[in-house]
Amino acid sequence: LAAMTLAAGGGYLLGSIPFGLVITNLAGLGDIRQIGSGNIGATNVLRTGRKDLALATLVLDAGKAGLAALIFTWLIGTEAGLVAGGAAFFGHCFPVWLGFKGGKGVATFYGTILAVAWPVGVLAALTWIGMALMMRISSLSALVAAAASPIIAYAFGRGDVGILCLFLAAIIYWRHRANIARLLDGSEPKIGGAKA
Ligand code: G3P
Repeated sequence: LAAMTLAAGGGYLLGSIPFGLVITNLAGLGDIRQIGSGNIGATNVLRTGRKDLALATLVLDAGKAGLAALIFTWLIGTEAGLVAGGAAFFGHCFPVWLGFKGGKGVATFYGTILAVAWPVGVLAALTWIGMALMMRISSLSALVAAAASPIIAYAFGRGDVGILCLFLAAIIYWRHRANIARLLDGSEPKIGGAKA
């Protein structure tokens, strides 16, 4: 139990680093929470017009969750890796530093899944990419891929990862409430668009 508490705490701390906010601030772009959708993730950083910073946000947000999962898998074991990755995702969505108002969990979801079961992560990423190529909407791509991920995990015989995916997908849907409302009324912007 002490080991799992350590995995959860370590994962949460790593995950709660808001890279999108830090990077855009350092670049002198002001507070990303005042731009576009107000989200701290890569999709919204792209709305500043800085593709390089958006890519850095995506890589660092995915990387922090993947790193948390890998570190605790190595240190303790598979289950601790799942806990740490899940906790990093949770830390990103609900960081104590930002009054628990964090991101929407898409990059940290991919970082975690790629680290704990890379074939599942690759297929879930291909689902996102396929949807994005067809529809050009980031949130919709993430919502479809998140819904598909538990099924993909079960298809690969990873019931443990499937349960984690179910849990993370539920939080992704919750964090995308405003996006879902915009998708339903047709006002959700396309990738790289200025408004949200
Ligand atoms: O990664 C979050 C994405 O799915 C939606 O971001 O800024 O369009 O709300 P945003």
